[in-house]
This record gives sequence, structure tokens and C-alpha cells, in this order.
Amino acid sequence: MPDYENLLYAFDGDAVATLTFNRPEKLNALNAATLAAVGRAFDDIASDDAIRVVILTGAGEKAFIAGADIDQIAEMSAVAGRDWGRLGQSLYSRISAFEKPVVAAINGYALGGGLELAMACHIRVASERARLGQPEIKLGVVPGWGGTQRLPRIVGRGRALEMLLSGDPVDADEAHRIGLVNHVVAPEQLMPKAREIASRIIKNSPAAAALILQAVDRGLEMPLDAALAWEASQFGLSCATEDMKEGVRAFLEKREPRFTGS
Ligand code: COA
Repeated sequence: MPDYENLLYAFDGDAVATLTFNRPEKLNALNAATLAAVGRAFDDIASDDAIRVVILTGAGEKAFIAGADIDQIAEMSAVAGRDWGRLGQSLYSRISAFEKPVVAAINGYALGGGLELAMACHIRVASERARLGQPEIKLGVVPGWGGTQRLPRIVGRGRALEMLLSGDPVDADEAHRIGLVNHVVAPEQLMPKAREIASRIIKNSPAAAALILQAVDRGLEMPLDAALAWEASQFGLSCATEDMKEGVRAFLEKREPRFTGS
């Protein structure tokens, strides 16, 4: 069982790994040690073929992640702040570009770096208790781990600017209404819902899942013509996989496919 600082790892034996941010006394605020642990955990998960979906959540009743650790940024110089921004951004970009689907199960506050992390994930599910926001402006700083970029891409410029400029969080229903989360469920249903989504994904081809994630993640940043060309090449690559042969054969033979990810 891997041991990561401030991070609990669990494998359900059925292709789903759960990482739980575990610093509840600080509402799971992210410090440098936790960021490094998350990077290591994703390295390990990337090379473990048994894992097909990752779920991220927070320990305790109150928070998913209440942001970057304010103690750590309190005395930062301009250069240290820029490096801190780059550190979180590169980790979050890695998660966004991860070849296995990552689901955020948002159990409470997702603020600042917590919301930025959730936005880097591929699918977001929230408990009715969740509160999501970018409160950095209240501290006199700019969100530095993707908040000014991923939030407007997800909810649109006007809604993002209201959240970024007021610093006020939205509740789970509002987050759902503006497309910031896919589902809102009762607190006790949060992990079952995240696992249910994972179980629907793991029935499908891991090879196609990786190609779809790349098609969407990179394609969204391209002009439509280039993105469609990129999609066509991803489709072409999927035609060369064993999973494609198995999927088509299983359909024709009227049976469930047995995908291997090759
Ligand atoms: N960094 C460091 N510590 C944090 C933290 C953060 N982002 N968020 C919460 N904590 C700590 C608090 O300092 C407190 O620690 P203490 O008990 O040693 O004093 C503990 O977590 C519990 O938080 P508390 O503020 O007492 O809980 P609350 O229920 O009154 O308020 C929040 C909850 C989320 C509204 C409040 O903690 C908050 O505003 N946090 C900061 C959010 C933020 O600005 N994030 C962006 C950072 S860039």
C-alpha cells in the first residue's frame, strides 16, 4: 500500500483508485508536501494497468480542499509566487491531461486551489454541502493554479468574472446550474455516485478512453479545423487497437466485450 504525505490511497480491487486529501484539521489545504505526494501518486497510478479510473475527495465533513495553504504563501516574494504558481499549474495540467479519467467527488468546500484542482479533473460530482469558489481576491491575490483560465472555459466569462471578482462561493445547486459540476447528491450518496460513474467508464475500452481524453483536452485548445483533424487522427489510432477489434467483434457476436486496453 503506497504511503503519501497528507494523502490516503485506496484501491477497490476493481480498477478504481481513490485518493483522499487528508489534512482535515486544515480543511485539507494544499502545501508543497501534499502537491509532491499527489504528483507521486499520479506517477504510480499512470504505471499501474490495474487502475482505470481515479477518484479524488477530501477527508472530514467540511472540505474537499479549502485552497492552497495560506501559511505557505503568506511571505512569498514575486519570484517564489511565480514558481508556486508554476508548480501547481504543472501538476494540474498533468491531471487534466491524465490518460485515465479523474473524477472529483467534492464533499465540502472547494476553494481556491481546491476548485482549481476540481476543474482540472474530468468529471465533477458535488455533495449538497459543497461550496465552490475562488476567494483569492479577498486575500489580494490572483488565482494562480488555473482559476482565471479554467473557470471561464467551463462556466463562461461573465459567470467566471462574477465569482473571481466577488470572491464569493456558489452553493452546489448553483454550481450545477452553471455547469461547474455534473451532479449534486446527498452527502452519503457522494462516493456511491462517483463510483457508479467510474463503474460505467470501466466497462468500456481503456485504450479508447485515453484517446478520447486526449482528443478533448488538447482539442479544446485548438481552432475547430485543427481540432477536427486531431480527432480524426485519434479515431485512426483507435482503429489500430486490440480493443477496437474486440469491441466490434463482441457487438457482432452479441456478447459483452472483454477489453484489455491494448
Ligand atoms: N490555508 C491554510 N489554513 C487553512 C485554509 C487555507 N487555505 N483554510 C482553512 N484553514 C485552516 C484554518 O486556519 C483553521 O486552522 P486553525 O484551526 O489552526 O486556526 C482550520 O483550517 C479550520 O478553518 P476555519 O477557518 O476555522 O473554519 P471555518 O468553518 O470557520 O471557515 C472557510 C471555513 C473555508 C470559510 C475558511 O477556513 C476560509 O475562508 N479558508 C480560506 C479559504 C481561501 O481563501 N482559500 C484560498 C487560498 S489561496
